[in-house]
Amino acid sequence: MPISIPGPAISAGTHTVKQPTRLIAMTSCATAGKCSVSCHTDAPSGFSGESPHSVSVRLLVAITGASGSLYAQRLLDQLDPAVHEVHVMLSQYAPQVLATELPEGLRLRDGVHQHSHRSMNVPFASGSNPPDAMVVIPCSMGTLGRIAHGLSSDSLLRCADVMLKERRKLLLVPRETPISLIHVKNFELLLQAGAQILPANPSYYTRPQTVQDVADTVVSRVLDHLGVAHNLVARWQDEPE
Ligand SMILES: Cc1cc2nc3c(=O)[nH]c(=O)nc-3n(C[C@H](O)[C@H](O)[C@H](O)COP(=O)(O)O)c2cc1C
Repeated sequence: MPISIPGPAISAGTHTVKQPTRLIAMTSCATAGKCSVSCHTDAPSGFSGESPHSVSVRLLVAITGASGSLYAQRLLDQLDPAVHEVHVMLSQYAPQVLATELPEGLRLRDGVHQHSHRSMNVPFASGSNPPDAMVVIPCSMGTLGRIAHGLSSDSLLRCADVMLKERRKLLLVPRETPISLIHVKNFELLLQAGAQILPANPSYYTRPQTVQDVADTVVSRVLDHLGVAHNLVARWQDEPE
């Protein structure tokens, strides 16, 4: 069922508002310019919308067909559209991997803006209107290579290109193993061009108990680098309360 994407309902400040959520069917972003999505309003289990934010940022979350859809889901769960302006875009292959890894669909909170990678009629296709930060999570080696070489053949790649040329924050969260020399060379190019690479390498010193806990060890570092306050994972040497 197509839905109209609501206009920005963003306000800076320190308040938090619990938002209902909706699910993106894995056929979303199949048409140019508009997304076809199915909606529902169940609260996600384990969701916490209460973390204090002091600065409102404009974020583009791009999701590709690398394994690790849960990383994207957990990141989106933490981004409050009542505080931040949150935009989401799926790569061409992302829906297939999402359907395998998150068969219940990707949860999006109300107020999140969706864009099709097929249309250049998105704000971030122009250097005149970049977001504060773009994160590609998870990032396939294919998308990473295309960004490294400036392909800009769809709006996801163009947005990443804009971030680099405008010297804005571009975070890439690649997931692949093992890696080849081509991957390493692409990492090098991207680092030289100003991107930040945060490989989806979980940590275990906080003794995560669930798959979600493990994913959160990656997402917490992404939030840190986006400048979004969170209490997702205890920090090293934090005293228990
Ligand atoms: C189940 C599944 C898991 C995949 N996992 C990865 C992965 O972890 N990393 C990766 O680089 N590619 C992975 N791929 C391959 C990408 O999906 C493929 O290269 C695709 O063309 C990427 O397209 P995109 O960059 O437009 O999303 C996976 C594919 C499938 C079907």
